[in-house]
Amino acid sequence: MLKPAARLGQLPPYLFAELDRRREAARARGLDVIDLGIGDPDRPTPPPIVERLRREAADPRHHRYPAYEGSGLFRRTVADYYRRRFGVDLDPDREVLAVIGSKEGISHLIWAWVDPGDAVLVPDPAYPVYRTQTILAGGRPVPMPLLPERGFFPDLAAISRQDREQTRLMFLNYPNNPTAGVATREQLGEAVDFARQQGLLLCHDAAYVEMTYAGTIAPSIFEIPGAKEIAVEFYSLSKPFNMTGWRIGAAVGNAEAVAALGRVKNNTDSGQFTAVQYAAVEALTWPGGPDFIQEMNAVYQRRRDLAATRLAKAGWELRVPEGTFYLWARPPGVSDSGTFAAELLERTGVSVAPGPAYGRQGEGYVRVALCCEETRLAEALDRIASLVGRFSESGGAWRKESSQPGRTTKRTWYDVPGSG
Ligand code: MLT
Repeated sequence: MLKPAARLGQLPPYLFAELDRRREAARARGLDVIDLGIGDPDRPTPPPIVERLRREAADPRHHRYPAYEGSGLFRRTVADYYRRRFGVDLDPDREVLAVIGSKEGISHLIWAWVDPGDAVLVPDPAYPVYRTQTILAGGRPVPMPLLPERGFFPDLAAISRQDREQTRLMFLNYPNNPTAGVATREQLGEAVDFARQQGLLLCHDAAYVEMTYAGTIAPSIFEIPGAKEIAVEFYSLSKPFNMTGWRIGAAVGNAEAVAALGRVKNNTDSGQFTAVQYAAVEALTWPGGPDFIQEMNAVYQRRRDLAATRLAKAGWELRVPEGTFYLWARPPGVSDSGTFAAELLERTGVSVAPGPAYGRQGEGYVRVALCCEETRLAEALDRIASLVGRFSESGGAWRKESSQPGRTTKRTWYDVPGSG
């Protein structure tokens, strides 16, 4: 009988694929679904970027294999952008690499850096890929709790001596998905000091670095002196330029880490379509770019204010975030987020992401992605408000009274072999 690799048995279902599946199943049952699950900008990519792709796609020179490390123009443009935006100098030949979206780059960095048995420090909660790729590579994810009372920044002093000694790699991601916490420069400085002392690679996922509100400006890790000795950062075009479907970003920083990632990639993929790299160059050099990012942030800020106010009124516990387009919130009377999210979808058509899919600390939370227009969002909030009261009154006993009992179980998201 055919049988896939045993390591696949160590993985929970992939959160966003599972949310897609549930959303489509709900639509097939006739529900009017409002998707606040995945963080996927709902507005289109700006026209100059689309137009550049259209032009470049017609150029036969780009129809052949792209350069593995990304075109020289793309890498120089990223370096120029880092200088303008963050005041950081990067060598485009040694310290910048094109990736097919941050997800691809992060996954392959783990394969480049982690040997079987190595510990990897992973925030809890966190974007699931840090943990699942560590498991696939035979590493041991060590959770670093992100708690609201610490501003969702890990307590590095609490990491045990044994875990420190076995750790090769640490992940951080600010502004943070899913908690929406924004790290201060001092906090990032603390992490850089820690990584230097321990001699480990610090991987900073900066996918949301452009997405902040009300005067908050999020730093690159390389604004911290000495960071380049031990850190690599992922910059993504996806969120700031509404380009999630285009799959383009950059790994920047420590030359040894960038080279190691490049070696895994050379043996895995053949780079991103050169025309897409040109479109990314257009985005990063477009004179209207900074204003576009500000306008989008203003849109998300209005949605944030609407949702935070309405959810707080409905008794949800949350912090009004200064960055990302997520709300990380505790609905009242909910101790099993998986059941809550499944029932919310089933009964109202509103899809949110269950907190435990991001780690154990996510139990009791759900993540709301502010990725639909205000009128639709207002409707979702009406539906949520009508339901949340009923959920807390029923003491969370929905599963028993559900018309299709047992569709989801709490174990689905986290408790799989090897989850630690
Ligand atoms: C999210 O919803 O967390 C992100 O959109 C997923 C991703 O960037 O892959």
